[in-house]
Amino acid sequence: MEKKSNHFSGQLGFVLAAAGSAVGVGNLWRFPYLAAKDGGGLFLIIYLILVLTFGFTLLTSDIAIGRRTQKSAIGAYTQMRPKWKFLGILTFLVPVLIMTYYAVIGGWITKYAVVYVTGQAQAAAADDYFTSFISSSTSPVIFALLFMGVTAFIVYNGVEKGIEKVSKWMMPILLVLVVVIAVYSLTLSYTDASGQVHTGWQGFLYYLKPDFKGLTVQRFLQILLDAMSQLFFSLSVSMGIMITYGSYVKPEVNLNKAINQIEIFDTGVAFLAGAMIIPAVYVFSGTEGMGAGPSLMFISLPKVFSAMGKAGTFVGILFFVTAIFATLSSCISVLESITANCMEIFHTGRKKTVLVLSAIYLAVSAVIALGYSIFYVEVKLPNGSVGQLLDIMDYISNSVMMPFIALLSTILIGWIVTPYYVIDEMERSGDKFRRKKLYRVMIRFVAPVMMFILFLQSTGILF
Ligand code: PHE
Repeated sequence: MEKKSNHFSGQLGFVLAAAGSAVGVGNLWRFPYLAAKDGGGLFLIIYLILVLTFGFTLLTSDIAIGRRTQKSAIGAYTQMRPKWKFLGILTFLVPVLIMTYYAVIGGWITKYAVVYVTGQAQAAAADDYFTSFISSSTSPVIFALLFMGVTAFIVYNGVEKGIEKVSKWMMPILLVLVVVIAVYSLTLSYTDASGQVHTGWQGFLYYLKPDFKGLTVQRFLQILLDAMSQLFFSLSVSMGIMITYGSYVKPEVNLNKAINQIEIFDTGVAFLAGAMIIPAVYVFSGTEGMGAGPSLMFISLPKVFSAMGKAGTFVGILFFVTAIFATLSSCISVLESITANCMEIFHTGRKKTVLVLSAIYLAVSAVIALGYSIFYVEVKLPNGSVGQLLDIMDYISNSVMMPFIALLSTILIGWIVTPYYVIDEMERSGDKFRRKKLYRVMIRFVAPVMMFILFLQSTGILF
C-alpha cells in the first residue's frame, strides 16, 4: 500500500479544516430556521444534548476509523471487514452526490456577495429577484463554475498547502464575522406604522426562550428528529468526509480534544447564526418571516438588509462573505473526500485525480445549475415536497443515504468490530477517553435505534 504523504501539520490545522467542513449552509440557513420553528430554547436544549451524545458518537467513530485505517471510506470499511466494503462504497457515494449541487449553492451565494458589493442591495430585495436569477440560463452556471474552480484549485494544492492553509485564515475570520453581525442584530430596533417598537433583544429572547405551547408527544418527537437530522448534516458525519480528514491526522494528536473543539466550533457557529439571523428577521418581518433554506438566505434576508437602510449594504456584504467562507470550506471537504477515495482506488496522484474530477464536476454543476431553467423538472419526493434536480440530489444523499449509512455503521462498530476498535484509537496518544462508557452505550444501543427511526421518518415511511 502506498504510504500517505498527506497530513495536517498538527491539531489546529485539523480542527480548523474539520470545523470548516462542519460549518456550512446547514449552520446558516437550516439551524436558525429549525430553532425558530421548533420552539426556540426547547430546540436549543435538545440539540445540545444530542451534540454531546449522539453527534459525539458519530463524529468520534468517523475520525477514529480514519486515523486508525489511514484510509478513506472505501478502503477503511474494507480494512475493518472486507465483507462490508459495500458500506464504504455507499458512504463514498454521499459526497459524490453532494458535490453535484454544493458548488451551485456556493455560486448563488457568491452572486449575492457580488450584488451587495456592487451596491444593488435594493434590487436584491425585490420579490422575484431570486427566482429570476436561478431560472436564468447563464448567471447561475457561471457562478457555479467559478465556485467549483476555486474549490478544485485548493484541493489540487493538497492537504497542508491547500486545505489547511485556507482553513487557517478563513475559519477565524468567519467566527469574528458571525460575532460582529450577531452583536449588531441585537442592537437593531424598528418602529412600525402603528408605532410599536420591535427590538433585536426581543427577537433574541424569542430565540432563547423554550416554547412549550402545544407540545404533544408527536411534536416532541418531530423536534427530536429535526434536531437529529440537522446534527448529522451539520457535523458532516456518515458521509466519509470525517474519515478522510481523520486519516490525515498525525498519531500524536489528541483526538479527544480535537473532537471537542470541532463540536464546540460547529455548535457555536450554529448558535451565533441564530443570534444574527433570528433577531434581525424578527425586528423587520416578525416571527412569520423565517423562511427555510434558500428562501431564508436569498429572499427573507435581502428584505431585512434593505429595511436596515444604508447599513444594510454593509451588513449584506459581511453576511455573504461569511456564507462564502462557510460554503467554500465545506465544498473543499466534499471534493477532498471524493479525491482521496479515487486516489486509493485507482492508485493515481492527487493532481491528476483532481483534474479529472474537476472536469466531471464542472459539467455536472452546470447541469444542476440549469435545473431551474433548461433542465427544469418537478418530482414529488417521498417526504411530500416537490423538488427540482438539486432537491432530488439533496434528498437522496441526506434523507435516505445518510441515516441508512449511520445505522449500518453503528451496527458494524457496535457489534461486529466492537467499540474497542474506536476506543483504542482514541487512547492511542496516551490520553484518557473520558466519554468511553457513554460511547459504548451510544454506539451499541441508542444510536442504532435512533438512526432506524430517523431513516423511517426521513424516507416518509413514518409520520
Ligand atoms: N456540514 C455542512 C453544513 O452544516 C454541510 C456539508 C454537507 C458539508 C456535506 C460537507 C458535506 O452545512
